[in-house]
Amino acid sequence: MERHLQEKFATDPHRPHYHFLPPAHWMNDPNGLMHLKGKYHLFYQHNPAGAFHANMHWGHAQSTDLVHWKHLPIALAPTPGGPDKDGVYSGCGVINNGIPTLVYTGVRPQVQCLATGSEDMITWAKYDKNPVIGAPPEGLEVTGFRDPCVWQESDRWYMLVGSGIKDLGGTALLYASGNLTDWEYLHPIYVGDKTVTGEMWECPTFFPLGDKHALLVSTVGTVLYFVGTWSELRFSPESQGRVDFGDSFYAAQAFPDEQGRRIVFGWLRENRGVGLQKEAGWSGVMSLPRIPFVREEGGLGMGPAPEITLLRGKHERITGLDLAPQSPKVIPQARGDRVEIVAVVQPGDAAQCGLALHCSPHDEERTVLSYDRQERRIRIDRRRSSLSANVALDVHEAPVGLSEGEAVTFHIFLDGSVIEVFADGGVCLTSRVYPTRADSVGVKAFAVGGRARIKSLDVWQMKAIW
Ligand code: FRU
Repeated sequence: MERHLQEKFATDPHRPHYHFLPPAHWMNDPNGLMHLKGKYHLFYQHNPAGAFHANMHWGHAQSTDLVHWKHLPIALAPTPGGPDKDGVYSGCGVINNGIPTLVYTGVRPQVQCLATGSEDMITWAKYDKNPVIGAPPEGLEVTGFRDPCVWQESDRWYMLVGSGIKDLGGTALLYASGNLTDWEYLHPIYVGDKTVTGEMWECPTFFPLGDKHALLVSTVGTVLYFVGTWSELRFSPESQGRVDFGDSFYAAQAFPDEQGRRIVFGWLRENRGVGLQKEAGWSGVMSLPRIPFVREEGGLGMGPAPEITLLRGKHERITGLDLAPQSPKVIPQARGDRVEIVAVVQPGDAAQCGLALHCSPHDEERTVLSYDRQERRIRIDRRRSSLSANVALDVHEAPVGLSEGEAVTFHIFLDGSVIEVFADGGVCLTSRVYPTRADSVGVKAFAVGGRARIKSLDVWQMKAIW
């Protein structure tokens, strides 16, 4: 990596230390997630020439424990004159009789391509008859045709391609194949209503979850889930909703690991202007690995993968902290921007209660994470998160399935500019914040309109993954 960037990154307070990101420059979607012979492989949309979206390559990293990553050489680059000459866009990875295989989109026009790899996944050869699917199905007026998701079922391969039917809504188009190279179009797996779920679905990812199936798609700036029944190549959703209620988590991809778990990664995009991203020399962070599950009422929740506890360092615990209105309590143990916090808060008769994060000593900057007892919602208020005007300064909220008076649990990961929050029922609320002051690292507990109580608060200093 360029020397000047290395020096810059060492003192950049916004650059995370325990979330994955490339050595430098741009990253977006996770791609080609696979687990083979004890090694996790993470590929990602990458511009190796700058911190902006262009010139798409696939970056590559490997891990044995899902949290510590080793950077590997770039896996896929555009081939001049080939179907991916204008960019190697998103896609997936599968193991075909022991051979790692990547399926991805070439653009202008959008077509689906294949590459096969060595067992260590360092060397890749593009299929010489690419593309394997050269055009969308005839007779369909589509809004896009990209981001293949491939899986094997009863000795056949299936592919979903992210798409949308003009004027109708987003969809994922289902194909089948016996060999990964010859594909037959079947039908749209499901078509959304464009007024609710957008006219184009990017990055579909489809997988069994318990005795149901889940389809995640990225659309209208967010990741949506559908949980339902998969039978005779038809998917019937029974519930739908948002996967993350912030505005950073996008382009989620799920994959099975060798223990049979499903793991999800998503791209945490920046919530600041492109000028600031270029100036920083990097853009885009991977979410923590998440484990999806079907909630009791049928929706989809996600929690952090248990491996993240490997990063825990020094631990401190506070119990029984009473909170009165207008007298927030500083929690010096939680101070910092590289910590994990688990706080269990009893709302009592307070209207809102929670934690103010990234606080400067006199609250010139602060980001407020709260629980609204009456509305049963958690909320992240970034309106005062930064003195910079060129960053997102807004409020995001999520419903949590608690009953009246029940304690709320906030599971919070602070890492540079990343705030990843998991609340009761696997509700996720991920944000990026960019305080300008070096002393915006305080944490305070508070109650509004009544008294609340911190039942317990655990803090861990987190180790860097590099
Ligand atoms: C989603 C996406 C995909 C596309 C890729 C290009 O963020 O727009 O649809 O393949 O990014 O980088």
